[in-house]
Amino acid sequence: MNCIATNILTPIANGDIIYIPKCYITISAGKIFAVSETAPQVECLDKTDCLCIPGLIDSHVHLSQLYIRGKYAPDLMQWLHKHTFPAEGMSRDAKFSEQIAQDFYQQSLAKGTTTSVVYTSPYPAACETAFKVAEAAGVRSIIGMTMMDRNCPDYLKQETAASIRASCELWDKWHDKGLLDYIFSPRFAITCSAELLEETGNLVKSLTARLQSHLSENTFEIEQVLDLFPGNSSYTALYEKYGLLGNRSIMGHGIHLARQEIECLRATDTGIAFCPDSNFFLKSGRFKWNEIEESGIRVGLGSDVGAGTDLSMLKMMKFADYILDKSTFTPAKAFYHGTLGNAVLLGLESKIGSLEAGKEADLVFLQHDEFFKTAVDSEDILSLLIYLNQEIKIESTWIQGKELYNKAKSGGNNEVS
Ligand code: GUN
Ligand code: ZN
Repeated sequence: MNCIATNILTPIANGDIIYIPKCYITISAGKIFAVSETAPQVECLDKTDCLCIPGLIDSHVHLSQLYIRGKYAPDLMQWLHKHTFPAEGMSRDAKFSEQIAQDFYQQSLAKGTTTSVVYTSPYPAACETAFKVAEAAGVRSIIGMTMMDRNCPDYLKQETAASIRASCELWDKWHDKGLLDYIFSPRFAITCSAELLEETGNLVKSLTARLQSHLSENTFEIEQVLDLFPGNSSYTALYEKYGLLGNRSIMGHGIHLARQEIECLRATDTGIAFCPDSNFFLKSGRFKWNEIEESGIRVGLGSDVGAGTDLSMLKMMKFADYILDKSTFTPAKAFYHGTLGNAVLLGLESKIGSLEAGKEADLVFLQHDEFFKTAVDSEDILSLLIYLNQEIKIESTWIQGKELYNKAKSGGNNEVS
C-alpha cells in the first residue's frame, strides 16, 4: 500500500466537484484504496504543495497532426488539403511514425493527459506503431487507423476492402488489450464511400466495437456531404442509415446540428467530443452547448490537435468556457467534461475520471502558488485551475499508481502553455 499526502480537487459521481485540502490518497494494486482526511499508518509521500486532480482525458485527438499545430488555413477543407493531408502522408515512413508517436504520448503525459482517443493515419503500420509506443509508455489510449477511400490524395487513399481488412486486423490485435483499445475511425463522409461507411457500420455492430468520426463541423462540409449522398435528410441521418451511431460511437464537433439531428444522437446514445480550440482555430462555428446539454447527449472535451493548437486539456477547459460566452457553461462543467464527463463518454466511468475509492489511480499533481496563497474555497481553486492554467506546472502524471512523468526528472520547464 502506498500513500500520498496532498490536496485534491475532483468531480464525484453525482456531478459535484469537491476540494479536500490536506488529505491522504492510499493506493493498492494500481487503484485508489481510499481518500481520507486522517493519516493512515503507513509512510506517505509528501505532495502537500501540490493540487491533485484526476488524470485528464482527451476524447478527440489526431496523433499524426502533432507537428502541424498552429498552421493556418481559413477553414476546414482548405486546412485539410494544405496542411493535414501532407502531414498525415509523412506517417508512411516507419521512423517518422515512431518518432511522432513517442512525441505525442510523452507530450500528452507532460500536459497531464492519461487517456486519449486517437486518430492515427490511413496506414496500418503507423497505427500498429502507435499502439506499441502507447503500450511501452504505459498510457491509456483508444486508437484507430483513419479510414478513407476517396476525395483525398492518392498517397492516403485506401482500397475499400483493404481499409476494412486492416481495421479488423488491428481490432483483433488491440481490442481491450490492457490499457489500450481499438476504435474504428472512418474519417468523415466526404472521404468515405457509401460502401466503406456501410461495411464499417455493420462491423462495429457485429463486433460491438467502438467508432469515431467527424460530424457537422463546417457548413461547407455539410453541403458537400449532402451533395455526395443525395436523398439523405441530414448528415446525422446518413450516419444513422449506415449504422455508425450508438453508445460506443463518438462524433467529433457536431456544431451545426439541427434539432432533429440532436434528437437522433440522443435516441441512439451517440456521444459528442466538443473541441473548442479547434472550433476557434478553423472558425467552424459555436457549439450549441445549451441545446446539447439539455438533450442529455453525453459530451466530452477534445483537443483535436492539430486543428487544436495544444494537447493541454486544462487549456481546452478554458477555451470551452470562452467560446461558450452566452451559455450555462461554468468552470465546474469545464473541469467535469475534461475528466469524469469524458470517462462517461468513453463508458469508462467505473475506472477513471475521478479520485474515488475503487477507481484506478490516474493522477495529476499540479503546482501553482496561488492555489494555496489566494484561494479561499473550492470555487477559487477551480477557477484558478481553469483561468490561470498557463501558469500552472504539471509536477507529475501517474497512471495506475505509477509515476510516468515527472517535471524535475524530465528536466522540463513545462508550463501548461
Ligand atoms: N474532418 C475530417 N478530418 C478532420 C480532421 O483531421 N480535423 C478536423 N478538425 N476535422 C476533420
Ligand atoms: Zn478531428
